[in-house]
Amino acid sequence: MKKIITYGTFDLLHYGHINLLQRAKAMGDYLLVGLSSDEFNALKHKQSYYSYNERKTILEAIKYVDEVFPENTWEQKPDDIQKYKADVLVMGDDWKGKFDNLKKYCQVIYVPRTPLVSTTKCKEYLRAFIPR
Ligand code: CTP
Repeated sequence: MKKIITYGTFDLLHYGHINLLQRAKAMGDYLLVGLSSDEFNALKHKQSYYSYNERKTILEAIKYVDEVFPENTWEQKPDDIQKYKADVLVMGDDWKGKFDNLKKYCQVIYVPRTPLVSTTKCKEYLRAFIPR
């Protein structure tokens, strides 16, 4: 069984996320998602709208996703890859080159980001058009 692993915050879910997850799953048989924990987001100076558990519930409902586990640190990826026996790490190309050091553990593939959509954009739009 070919295992694929990917990482992200997946906060306000959009079709860019779905494209990424669909492409990642198509590369193998089993898709693992390392989902940024709320603590890890805080470390990155990010705050998600949905909590970790809410984001996990949403991701687990997607047919391309087989398993979700928490990402708590920048350094855990080599351990995850080995623990889950991942064959391929798939990331959006906004991360191009950033994970090349993991090529000693598995194949690393960067896929083109879907243009013109991001959680940040959705949040900006909501802030501008939906007054509190
Ligand atoms: N992604 C993508 N295309 C987009 C947005 C995201 O392929 N338009 C991919 C990212 O490259 C990453 C995964 O989806 O591999 C999760 O990205 P995440 O950072 O959670 O989503 P963003 O929408 O980019 O969130 P933010 O705006 O908060 O950075």
